[in-house]
Amino acid sequence: MRPLSIGSLHLSGCALLAPLAGISDLPYRLVNRRHGCGFAFTEMISARSLVNDSRRTLRMLALDRRDRPLGVQLVGSDAQVLCRAIELLAPFTFDLVDLNAACPARKVVGVGQGAALMRDPAKLERLLRAMVAASTAPVTVKIRSGWDASSRNALEVAQRAQDAGVQAVIIHGRSRSQGYGGRVGYDVIAQVKQALAIPVIGSGDVFSAVHVLEMLSRTGCDAVTVARGALGNPWIFEEIQAALAGEPPPRRPGPDQICACMQEHLDMSVDLYGEELGIKHFRKFFGWYTRGFYRIRPLRSAAFQCRTRAELAAIIDRLKSSRIDPGCSFHLGPSDYEGLAGC
Ligand SMILES: Cc1cc2nc3c(=O)[nH]c(=O)nc-3n(C[C@H](O)[C@H](O)[C@H](O)COP(=O)(O)O)c2cc1C
Repeated sequence: MRPLSIGSLHLSGCALLAPLAGISDLPYRLVNRRHGCGFAFTEMISARSLVNDSRRTLRMLALDRRDRPLGVQLVGSDAQVLCRAIELLAPFTFDLVDLNAACPARKVVGVGQGAALMRDPAKLERLLRAMVAASTAPVTVKIRSGWDASSRNALEVAQRAQDAGVQAVIIHGRSRSQGYGGRVGYDVIAQVKQALAIPVIGSGDVFSAVHVLEMLSRTGCDAVTVARGALGNPWIFEEIQAALAGEPPPRRPGPDQICACMQEHLDMSVDLYGEELGIKHFRKFFGWYTRGFYRIRPLRSAAFQCRTRAELAAIIDRLKSSRIDPGCSFHLGPSDYEGLAGC
């Protein structure tokens, strides 16, 4: 199972549910946990918005005792604001606090946050030092291989992070300028792993258990994050557990199981956000869950028009007797998620 310790936090597995802005809310995390995910992150939270007490920011923090252990990810570039955010988060007793130094989105890097922090390693080190002093939970940082091909400084940044007292480094093996395109670079993750004493968690192109084994063996990293690979496929965690235990892969879920999972996800979404918003949140998942279903197009359009839980539930019910194209791989690649605005 490859247990993992991040400072005082002890995890039984080495596949973590990655932070995904606009996606990794409470219902999504709970669905993945039901299928074996042992650790999850909240959506990225702006430290500034939190300090300004925005209602939306606080709703992102919807908590549930089944949703543990749980890490919170902050984005910010001001030490005082980040430390105040950590103070405000204290009552939530998160198990880990991560700083996002990886987000490539223009609106984030444009204000010096996310991956922009990699362009100023000394500043990033100062921020992390302040966060470590302010937090009772272990602090981690998520980085990329660098800003672009001419500035692959992950090694320097990771070493500085370790010096600042962080307890693990998560590294997405692409540069900021690569966004989510091309293939993940294992070499940079391996380099960082070799240089650090703290755990290194690899991120990028984990779409199946095979990719987990490949990431672990090619980089020597201690754990991986599952990001796009879990969209519509929480069963990936069962598959990863089986692969790590040397067991044969579990059977691919049939329409019945997928529909039951969708219904549960929809119910949790509506219970949390109310009918209108809950359905809006769930719609994108409907598309991911129903990959490979025969003649799904008209039902997808119908699902996108639904206004009530009952209407959507009726469509999900109809899908139970549907068939899945056996030729359609359950494990899709990065190109299947093109157009998905990442962070
Ligand atoms: C829609 C989307 C949202 C994301 N949001 C975040 C985020 O909030 N914080 C973060 O650190 N990474 C975020 N990421 C990056 C993922 O956590 C992960 O590092 C990246 O997708 C590479 O893994 P993958 O190739 O297995 O998907 C996001 C990615 C996508 C596609």
